[in-house]
Amino acid sequence: MLTDSYGRQIRDLRISLTDRCNFRCFYCLPDGEPPLARKATILTFEEIVEISEIFVALGIEKIRLTGGEPLLRKDVERLVEKIARLKDPANVSKELLTEPEANPKSEIRNPKLLDLALTTNGHTLDRRAEALKQAGLDRVTVSLDSLDPANFRDLTGVDRLAETLAAIAAAKRAGLEPVRVNAVVVRGRNDHEIVALARFAREQALAMRFIEYMPLDSKNEWDRKLVVSGREIRQTIDAVFPLVLSEQTRGSATAWKYAFADGAPGEIGIIAPVTEMFCGACSRIRLTADGQLRTCLFSTREHNLRDVLRGGADRAEIVRFIREAVNRKEPRHTINDEQFAPASRSMSFIGG
Ligand code: GTP
Ligand code: 5AD
Ligand code: SF4
Repeated sequence: MLTDSYGRQIRDLRISLTDRCNFRCFYCLPDGEPPLARKATILTFEEIVEISEIFVALGIEKIRLTGGEPLLRKDVERLVEKIARLKDPANVSKELLTEPEANPKSEIRNPKLLDLALTTNGHTLDRRAEALKQAGLDRVTVSLDSLDPANFRDLTGVDRLAETLAAIAAAKRAGLEPVRVNAVVVRGRNDHEIVALARFAREQALAMRFIEYMPLDSKNEWDRKLVVSGREIRQTIDAVFPLVLSEQTRGSATAWKYAFADGAPGEIGIIAPVTEMFCGACSRIRLTADGQLRTCLFSTREHNLRDVLRGGADRAEIVRFIREAVNRKEPRHTINDEQFAPASRSMSFIGG
């Protein structure tokens, strides 16, 4: 089991496959950034699978593939297939279980991956959803901040609303469910579309996630005045479509989940990291495309797992390195503190 110094169990690994993206969402990567120096710095599929296996042996149950835009990386289906093999405990090396330091209490006897998801802007998903499902992907989250073509273009820098909607439909058809849809709500940009997006969730039987805008944009233009609080988002929807909380507790999940009181299909999730911090129950760790472990979205330092791996470390050494990184996991973000120090990389490198 991976446990940090505050007693939080780490069960959720997010792997960024590339820092490249073909969208220019203003809250993430408005001008684009030079892609990571050389191809050689990016982890290979083999390296990603090896790291995933070690993490699963250490108790990671959920893996989410992110970017940049993960579907820009060639042959993602092949990678999905390899990671999905970790759902069978027979494919997770038992070697680590007998390693005393790696697993002092031998709590994990039969570790396996339970959930493999992917976050995408929808690029090419309409024609790849089926193959991804076949490869073993369980579900996808698609980013969609607007249902108005002109506003979509304004927010994302690209004229691709139709493609994104087709991606969502294809994901449903392929059974990549529950299909979740992420909308970052920003004052004056798309807060007038909150109800329309909630209606879309009802009509399409989707899990819509409304997310508070966080200071992770590459241009550092985040301003507290632009944050629409989770509470305001919920009240705005509730006034038109009454909501009922569907789970009283949320464990380590980011979202409070609501159902429509009239029994309509669909779900509303509210993610409010700025006004209702949920760090105390955080179960997440992140791996960047260039092989750096990030113990928090807002980390200001990273742990260079790539060099450890490429330096020929054996598994016990890799495990020790991971445990040391986890042990330094930040207690919480400091968005609301006066001395907030921005993350060392923007969201396009971290992947949400
Ligand atoms: P699932 O429940 O597995 O679908 O994942 P999730 O609820 O974490 O959703 P997802 O991965 O789609 O994340 C949605 C958004 O929540 C991200 O894009 C981020 O904006 C935000 N988020 C996710 N994880 C964290 C986190 O650890 N800290 C903070 N502050 N925000 C997060
Ligand atoms: N604040 C909150 N969420 C963000 N995302 C990207 N940038 C931000 C930000 N500044 C989320 C989007 C996208 C996911 C990859 O990351 O919801 O779906
Ligand atoms: Fe976890 Fe950091 Fe997110 Fe807080 S901000 S929930 S500590 S990743």
